[in-house]
Amino acid sequence: HATGLNISARGEGGETHQTAGGETPSLTTAQGVPVSDDQNSLRLGQRGPTLLEDFHFREKIFHFDHERIPERVVHARGFGAHGFFELTDSLSDVTCADVLQRPGERVPAFVRFSTVAGSLGSFDLARDVRGFAVKLYTQEGNWDIVGNNIPVFFIQDAIKFPDLIHSVKPEPDRGFPQAQSAHDNFWDFISLSPESINMATWAMSDRALPRSFRFMEGFGVHSFRFVNAKGASTYVKFHWKPKLGLQSVVWNEAVKINGADPDFHRRDLWSAIQSGNFPEWELGVQLFDDAFADSFDFDILDATKLIPEELVPVRRVGRLVLDRVVDNFFAETEQVAFCTQNIVRGVDFTNDPLLQGRNFSYLDTQLKRLGGPNFTHIPINAPKCPFHHFQQDGHMAMHNPKGRANYEPNSWGGAAGGPREDHTRGFESFPEQNAGVKSRVRSARFSDHYSQARQFYASQTEPEQVHIQQAFTFELSKVETPQIRARVVAHLRNVDEGLAKAVATGLGLETLPEPTIPASPVVEGLSASPALSIVKN
Ligand code: HEM
Repeated sequence: HATGLNISARGEGGETHQTAGGETPSLTTAQGVPVSDDQNSLRLGQRGPTLLEDFHFREKIFHFDHERIPERVVHARGFGAHGFFELTDSLSDVTCADVLQRPGERVPAFVRFSTVAGSLGSFDLARDVRGFAVKLYTQEGNWDIVGNNIPVFFIQDAIKFPDLIHSVKPEPDRGFPQAQSAHDNFWDFISLSPESINMATWAMSDRALPRSFRFMEGFGVHSFRFVNAKGASTYVKFHWKPKLGLQSVVWNEAVKINGADPDFHRRDLWSAIQSGNFPEWELGVQLFDDAFADSFDFDILDATKLIPEELVPVRRVGRLVLDRVVDNFFAETEQVAFCTQNIVRGVDFTNDPLLQGRNFSYLDTQLKRLGGPNFTHIPINAPKCPFHHFQQDGHMAMHNPKGRANYEPNSWGGAAGGPREDHTRGFESFPEQNAGVKSRVRSARFSDHYSQARQFYASQTEPEQVHIQQAFTFELSKVETPQIRARVVAHLRNVDEGLAKAVATGLGLETLPEPTIPASPVVEGLSASPALSIVKN
């Protein structure tokens, strides 16, 4: 036979059977029992009822029925690839993170790119933020930088995240629109949340229509901390700079591409890697201290703001190369679990209220999405360094403790006693001093919502500004409620008068709404900030 398989007709229906033999293994059940007939269920008589005792049939259908797991509540549509991170410049002065000590050393990496709003089966070129999640399998544990391709975020406090996401997802009564933000609920939320105007302006820019994942920047967004061997802390913002530079498509192209090839971005990454054209990013860090943080116009804990690269240049310290596609999309891309709380010794959190909420949310959602607490046993999530702990049992437990000891301290010495605390290499939290009154009031330095949006818009070239005007006009033209349209334009008057007028004209508004009064007075001295740097590699 041309296929190398033994094919025979068997049974009175004349159906084809391919039989084991030579190098073709026997088909078995999940219990390992060889199967003789995979085409016919067991019946009582040739035309009789199917028998409950057909364990092969029942196991096959049962497993198929349970193939789907919940899609991610956000960032459902994504595409992942393997690669490595190589350090090019030691950061031992500011961090004791093992992976950032010795130039030339490599660790394995896994990256998942995603859209945010669309479901698993949505199209790639939606106008949307892109997720840029990186897992570094370091020798001192897994470190995840769970970022986006836009350096700022819509909201300042994680308590608003469910509302933001509900507003962008399909409306609950009608179940549309899918995978796009052009509808009343989204713009209603934005217009009632002035803190979101900066990111909304970024989301209406060309950044939200990347030509491919290979032409995108990535940002850790929050201010994190580095902690060095002496225990000193430095603030850090993470950047990924694409070797190919930044490129986007325009809206007309995006609409056509989505129709012709909804998998445009995943196909691009797959083909590039398969043809040896490995995409690459540089890791950049913006480092700053308390003195800078105190002097900066905005609170460095506010994730709706960036730190201009003119003020704090980006130091390039490593490279990330993607050189291998996954063996299995489900096992790797779907089951990978990123979490902002996955950090290593030498890295630490700040009190950014968005970051603090994320630290809770990812683990919580993955407990449900991945069916229990043992998802670190799935190979894509398991560390690639030695690991030992006393966690045990639960659904799908693959690595239970060996021997008698499953607690500590214990009296069983040596290997029999199991792992012990490590005061030399163990993770230590930075001993930040905190004191305050329990309250829900945000710092006044979180309250200027327009200056950075204004700077962002001003930093764009004229064609890029026109794209932003057109995007706002198109999106708001899908909004049916006049008050919501007017409210967004009122915000835009605080960003740029020309932008507001162009959008108002595009929407056919008869009068220009009064500018929104900023929620609180603008922080003094803001206008002195240099323009934002828009990186064009
Ligand atoms: C998923 C980024 C804010 C909750 C993701 C993913 C990325 C991401 C890249 C996809 C991970 C993957 O590929 O598997 C960000 C960024 C944020 C942000 C950059 C702001 C700076 C938040 C907030 C929350 C949140 C505030 C909740 C309080 C989630 C959840 C998932 C997710 C629940 C799904 C995780 C899973 O099912 O595995 N986020 N996110 N995110 N994010 Fe965020």
